[in-house]
Amino acid sequence: MKAPTIAVLTSGGDAPGMNAAVRAVVRRTLFRGGRVVGVLRGFAGLVEGDYQTLQESSVGDIIQRGGTILQTARYAPFAADATVREEAVRRLREEGVDGVVVIGGDGSLRGAHALDQAGMPAVGVPASIDHDISGTDQSIGFDTALNTILEAVDRIRDTASAHNRIFVIEVMGRGCGRLALAAGFASGSESVLVPEVAVDVVEVAQRILQRHRRGKRHHLVIVAEGAGMGVYEVAERLAQETGLETRVTVLGHLQRGGNPSAVDRILASRLGAVAVEILLEGTRDVLIGTKGGEVIAVPLAEVTSAPRASLDQELYRLMGSLSI
Ligand code: F6P
Repeated sequence: MKAPTIAVLTSGGDAPGMNAAVRAVVRRTLFRGGRVVGVLRGFAGLVEGDYQTLQESSVGDIIQRGGTILQTARYAPFAADATVREEAVRRLREEGVDGVVVIGGDGSLRGAHALDQAGMPAVGVPASIDHDISGTDQSIGFDTALNTILEAVDRIRDTASAHNRIFVIEVMGRGCGRLALAAGFASGSESVLVPEVAVDVVEVAQRILQRHRRGKRHHLVIVAEGAGMGVYEVAERLAQETGLETRVTVLGHLQRGGNPSAVDRILASRLGAVAVEILLEGTRDVLIGTKGGEVIAVPLAEVTSAPRASLDQELYRLMGSLSI
């Protein structure tokens, strides 16, 4: 591909580090003598032709910012309707685009695959705080969200200890418990409820009572939003079973915002730059992820048809043995 034009978009739920990835795509393309088209509002903007030419300076001062300067959207018609995808390809060709870098989570990567199938070379870069994408060890935004949760849980622990209370804390992750498990593990929480593991709340209550009798003054229970039971129901059951005062904190969208961590900035910069290189060498329809610290390319067909990334059961068991 000579003096190529690369388009870049962010799609789905925003993740801290998306801006660093956009910056890397833009600067690497320009470094290689190409032109960059920024697509606003994800696949919606792709279809509607909401495009802007990006220069070096367009992505200055963004490596440290959360959110995404390109904005994002969840746009169902792209997956549902072939004529919508054809319209996107037509618009991109009209703009002289040779390949598209899609930065987003599992739905966005399915969109990237569908775009490629419709005739426009596309590569995906994993960005989702849920880290539910198979085929990659890391996902942009996960580390930052995890650190944001830890800061919140550390604060909650102070007040929990002061009042001798149980706190039930809901974290994001949709149907995936990875964020909840990592947060529970790293915060030293007493229990974690995730969609992947069936847990009896009565047993959780009994363990809390044992610790309470030993003199433990805080009891933190992390619940993934996709776990079978909602936080308010868990809290009510624990209060009934233990007789201890119980409070609920739903961390919500504060987990998605904030400045990306060093890990996410570096990851996003590496993946964004390699995504460009991959398109330039003529490879397409792949996810750019990591395995064992190395950047790898995995066919999007494989990634999007594989089951959701699985929970690390060993980590789950280890956590159980440490939070006694
Ligand atoms: O996929 C990221 C995520 O933050 C999930 O953890 C959560 O379930 C969902 O997005 C929330 O979506 P929205 O921002 O559209 O409410």
